[in-house]
Amino acid sequence: MNFLFCFVLSAVFACGCAGPFKALLYSDWITCDHDKTLDMGVSETQIFFYDFQNNFNLTYPIDNAVEGITTAYNLDITRKLVFFVPGYKSHINKNTEDILRQAFATIPNIYLIIVDHSIYTSSKGGKIASYERSVKYAYYIGRALGNFLAGLHAKGFPSNKIHCIGHSLGSQMLATTGSRYTEVTNEKIWRITALDPAGPCFSNSLIENQIRSGVAQYVEVYHCNAGGLGTTSVLADIDFFFNKKGTKQPSCHEGLIPAKGESDAAKCSHKACVRYYSMSVHLQNGFLAWACDNYDHYHDGKCAANEVTIAGYNNPGNATGVFYVSTEMYGIE
Ligand SMILES: *[C@@H]1O[C@H](CO)[C@@H](O)[C@H](O)[C@H]1NC(C)=O
Ligand SMILES: *[C@@H]1O[C@H](CO)[C@@H](O)[C@H](O)[C@H]1NC(C)=O
Repeated sequence: MNFLFCFVLSAVFACGCAGPFKALLYSDWITCDHDKTLDMGVSETQIFFYDFQNNFNLTYPIDNAVEGITTAYNLDITRKLVFFVPGYKSHINKNTEDILRQAFATIPNIYLIIVDHSIYTSSKGGKIASYERSVKYAYYIGRALGNFLAGLHAKGFPSNKIHCIGHSLGSQMLATTGSRYTEVTNEKIWRITALDPAGPCFSNSLIENQIRSGVAQYVEVYHCNAGGLGTTSVLADIDFFFNKKGTKQPSCHEGLIPAKGESDAAKCSHKACVRYYSMSVHLQNGFLAWACDNYDHYHDGKCAANEVTIAGYNNPGNATGVFYVSTEMYGIE
């Protein structure tokens, strides 16, 4: 059992009491509970399955989803499965899920699954209580998702065709999903993409609570609000830092009211990772990314001759280390 104590902001959570939100800290404490022995039930998690090519979709509660999908439907195991897990306070009808559906609707030979765990991770019960509750559920939801994917694998779906994408708290859940999948199948999920993994309650936590390299064949992390809502930690096979040090995105302004402005800007930067990644689905050469030892060197052009790879959906998956990306270079804020 390990508990971590974090401060909580009015709308934004920041752990470790450092970083750009220091001025906004409340005096309230939140408890970050990563206890894995509670056996918390998550059976009301919903699986939304989309086959855009055939204009077909299905929804099942998680425990019936493998049986449901494989019975109702003749799963084409040559297609890729894109499996999206959203963050705290999301649900199937939110903008993030819509951006994902739109991004993948025209991509051939894929299935899209979107997970809705909102019954355990909504804002019900107040801000502090609801984030505490969501963190407490993260392990159990992640594990159930691992069991679900292992169930699809048992029905013939290959590990090499499974691509998990998570945002924020959903990215952190995928650490457990990947490990659980391997426990059951002895194989690894092809790729895990973690979009601005949640920082609060995680970045100061034990590494086994966090998304990291090893939990899939290739794990990539995208940083857009590092030190705010997103983690600052370098965790994966490859870590991409977007625009200004991966902390703040160009279209995310702070406005005039200091505390609210800072909180809105953080949320905006945090979500920008979803937006950039969704755009990259249609960019064959993605956003180019440069290996560099730090942001200032990248910014000063000192890393221009370093290794270049593609950030985004078309990342070939053969580069490792820390890379920097400018979306402004493409006129994208
Ligand atoms: C899912 O399918 C139903 C018909 O079964 C359709 O009305 C609905 O628009 C579909 N939803 C999406 C997001 O494709
Ligand atoms: C990575 O893979 C891409 C696409 O297959 C290839 O063009 C590139 O040369 C590879 N890079 C390295 C460093 O192997």
